[in-house]
Amino acid sequence: MSKERKEIIIGRCIGESSPAFVSFVTKEMPQIGDYVIVEYDKKEVLGLITGLVRGNPAIDTKIYDPEVVSTIKVFEGDEFYIHGGIRILGDIENLQIPRTPPPPGTIIKRARTKVLKEIFQTDSEECIHIGHLISNPEVSVAIDVNKMVSRHLSVLAITGAGKSNSVAVIVDELLKLPGCVLMFDMHSEYVLSKFTNGGINVIPSNLNPRYLTFSELLILLNIPSNAHIQQRYLRIAFKEIRDKMKESGLKKDFLVELYHKLEQYSNNDDNSSDKKSIIGVMNKINDMQIRYEIILHEHAQIILEQIQLGKANIIDLGMVDEDLVDVVVSHVLRTLLQGRKQYKREGKGFPHPVFLVLEEAHILAPADRNPLSKYWISRIAREGRKFGLGLCLVSQRPKIIDSNALSQANNMIILKLVEPGDQRYVQNASETLSEDLMTQLSSLNTGEAILLGMMTKVPALVKIKKFAGTLIGQDINIVKEWKDKHEKSKKENKEKTQEINEIYESGNW
Ligand SMILES: Nc1ncnc2c1ncn2[C@@H]1O[C@H](COP(=O)(O)OP(=O)(O)O)[C@@H](O)[C@H]1O
Ligand SMILES: [Mg+2]
Repeated sequence: MSKERKEIIIGRCIGESSPAFVSFVTKEMPQIGDYVIVEYDKKEVLGLITGLVRGNPAIDTKIYDPEVVSTIKVFEGDEFYIHGGIRILGDIENLQIPRTPPPPGTIIKRARTKVLKEIFQTDSEECIHIGHLISNPEVSVAIDVNKMVSRHLSVLAITGAGKSNSVAVIVDELLKLPGCVLMFDMHSEYVLSKFTNGGINVIPSNLNPRYLTFSELLILLNIPSNAHIQQRYLRIAFKEIRDKMKESGLKKDFLVELYHKLEQYSNNDDNSSDKKSIIGVMNKINDMQIRYEIILHEHAQIILEQIQLGKANIIDLGMVDEDLVDVVVSHVLRTLLQGRKQYKREGKGFPHPVFLVLEEAHILAPADRNPLSKYWISRIAREGRKFGLGLCLVSQRPKIIDSNALSQANNMIILKLVEPGDQRYVQNASETLSEDLMTQLSSLNTGEAILLGMMTKVPALVKIKKFAGTLIGQDINIVKEWKDKHEKSKKENKEKTQEINEIYESGNW
């Protein structure tokens, strides 16, 4: 195979070329995603075939009768030309875009496997292998972990295209390093998974009310932003209790203290409308305690203290409502950012970098709403690089993700994406996704992806490998599950009937 790929001439440059884009003609059909070498001005330049058309000048679109086409074919045979476009990626020495375009007629060759291996394959311990080139399975593709974490990553595709599989492959490779990953598991997809390179550490989404901020508490209490009087009393009581606890190290239940403080205000207040508002807040505290009975308690262990290095740390959010998801995500991101800043400044705080996986990024950082999680995602997207906090935003609805958060993710793994609105939005957010590459997105198969950004030396069309561990959220065989259940019920019924018959026959009834 490698011999065949050695020096095959694919075609020749035609028309006007630029240093970044070249048109060519050929007789042999190459494939989109093939890497080629264009040799001119004493250098070898690497390019990627991003578009192909096939035609015959004798059979053009002005013919309206299929019979005419059939007659032309008798004379012409199966003669056709192939016309394609090549995106120039850089000269093979240093991957810099050349300053001059290739002259017309320049020979285009298929890139040698050896050249591709030098670019995509590396044994550096700072890189992880995630798959192989679609056009050349001999070349495995590695990505730079430092650049992936520090410049953030987005994994975008329609449902079923392979996002979770890609994330699992990356996480598994990171665990080998040993890296630290924190996954916000929105569908309880990872809590029962098995990674081959490290264990999982499931962290309950419990929160200690005394460490919540005022904004976090407002969300859990369900107090709307226009309830000014309720917010005013709650803010005063919150501050008073918080200060008292800080000063005296009071170990009493924060919510009980808060409730009593509000009760005091209500007893001392003569204004009946204010009294009503205060009682409203007290009721909301009671409601919240009932609603989040298992999650919100004084003895809840701090989430950050449970994060382990070399483990896939998973916060299970599959069974909680959207308000709590918002609070847990923002609480963890906020305390982590603060912890990392403190560690950098004072040497105490959170001691190592973390890669944060956020599935359903369009819910956590939506374009049209402002949940608290969006604020902290944006903060980490902007500041995380300096403090070793990397985001991995995963979504099947890219066009409704906040554009700022998305464009901060310099690295992208884009699998099959069919909706033109999604494609355009992703193209706008990316510096490197050109129109010609974007048009390929709808024809990708499951697990095939375009890799962009600093984590890869040049854009790569990759078949992501299949995750070697087990993942619970993968496609289930519905028909088989129905059949199995039906067979089981039939067997149970048969056994029961047999049992009843035996009792009848024995006369012991
Ligand atoms: N690279 C791959 N190689 C082989 N199978 C894959 C690959 N990626 C995904 N699949 C399969 O396709 C199905 C959907 O993948 P999944 O990762 O759950 O998609 P998504 O998270 O985008 O909805 C799963 O059954 C998975 O095993
Ligand atoms: Mg998924």
